[in-house]
Amino acid sequence: MRTQVGIVGAGPAGLLLSHLLHLRGIDSVVLEARSRHYCETRIRAGVLEQGTADLLVASGVGGRMTREGLVHRGIVLRFGGRDHRIDLSELTGGRTILVYGQHEVVKDLIAARLDAGGEIFFDVEDVAVGDLDTAAPRIRFRRGGEARELRCDFIAGCDGFHGICRPSIPPGVLTIYEHAHPFAWLGILAQAPPASAELIYASHARGFALLSMRSPEVSRLYLQCEPAEAIGEWPDDRIWQELRRRFETDEGWTLRDGPVLQKGITAMRSFVASPMQHGRLFLLGDAAHIVPPTGAKGLNLAAADVRVFVEALDAFYAAGRTDLLAGYSAACLRRVWKVQRFSWWMTSMLHRSAEGEFFDRLHLAELDYVTSSRAAATALAENYVGLPFAPA
Ligand code: FAD
Ligand code: PHB
Repeated sequence: MRTQVGIVGAGPAGLLLSHLLHLRGIDSVVLEARSRHYCETRIRAGVLEQGTADLLVASGVGGRMTREGLVHRGIVLRFGGRDHRIDLSELTGGRTILVYGQHEVVKDLIAARLDAGGEIFFDVEDVAVGDLDTAAPRIRFRRGGEARELRCDFIAGCDGFHGICRPSIPPGVLTIYEHAHPFAWLGILAQAPPASAELIYASHARGFALLSMRSPEVSRLYLQCEPAEAIGEWPDDRIWQELRRRFETDEGWTLRDGPVLQKGITAMRSFVASPMQHGRLFLLGDAAHIVPPTGAKGLNLAAADVRVFVEALDAFYAAGRTDLLAGYSAACLRRVWKVQRFSWWMTSMLHRSAEGEFFDRLHLAELDYVTSSRAAATALAENYVGLPFAPA
């Protein structure tokens, strides 16, 4: 088999890449280790920057998102028993965010690719990439028990943090920058109307909690927990009780509960692999970098890498230019590090750690500052809605 761009992974990065390449007349094949059903029901991110949503609309896959997604113009920071609203739109010249589940984006992209005759092979096994230093790299895999090989011009490693592409780069090429945060998030999806129209980021002496949503009937809630805790230690009653405590306000705000549809614990990590390229293998999204979810940035950063890579491939195929491909990593990493900074800042400001009372006071002062200074609030808002894109 042959294609122009062999894509490993059918998450948001791999699918969006395949879709945008198709619109530019560039062929690709997507290889995915899990089933279509698994990819379409994996509950993860929920916040799209306006720029990400605009890209989906402009590329023709935003129909259902525009109908069902929830446009938000602000977020709430809750601490000291009170709410402090950050008016994202007012502070950023009218920009907004869109609450729309990542798995819905994935569903829309899979449907668009398959409708256009695109090739996505689900349930493939033993994926391995090779000949990365040549102009004809290849991907070996098994499909239905049968060994196959895909020859391509380029390989896009969109296989997430635990994928095989990044570890296939020879030792000594990549520099890894990493920070493991001393806490994790327990997340639930609940059949309960969200108790607030806007996201609430709550900083409480017992730890951080976040209220988000997927629809007017379904809430998405998170609470800070220990990384070593098992989900079995958290029966539903304990989760609701802990959420109620962390969201309590002086005005007697009440959380709405309901049946828990899904729950899980996610470790929090900051990670960057540099450069995001080796030979003809390019890394995109979580395969190259991870941010803690407090800034709601991971999916948006994956989409930003895709934008840069599509322009570079287009310049290569349309005009034989290699300069944008050579500059891919540097272009992506500029945004990646700014987003790392923002995600780390939001995380340290809002979570409780064992660093001690001195740091708890600093974080409270930071919250006080960000909610009382227009300049500080603007800095939060412009990062949250998404930094602008530099021209290619
Ligand atoms: P992934 O979504 O991880 O996709 C990688 C794909 O590759 C998967 O389908 C995987 O099955 C496949 N794969 C792996 N190995 C192989 C292999 N060997 N062969 C073939 N296929 C393989 N981001 C936000 O922007 N906003 C948020 O609000 C937000 N909230 C989050 C909340 C949680 C609880 C979590 C866990 C993450 C959150 N994120 C958020 C981050 C976001 O989900 C990720 O950044 C995003 O999924 C990255 O997309 P990706 O395509 O790079 O990787
Ligand atoms: C979500 O809705 O899943 C979500 C929202 C905001 C975040 C992280 C996750 O910061």
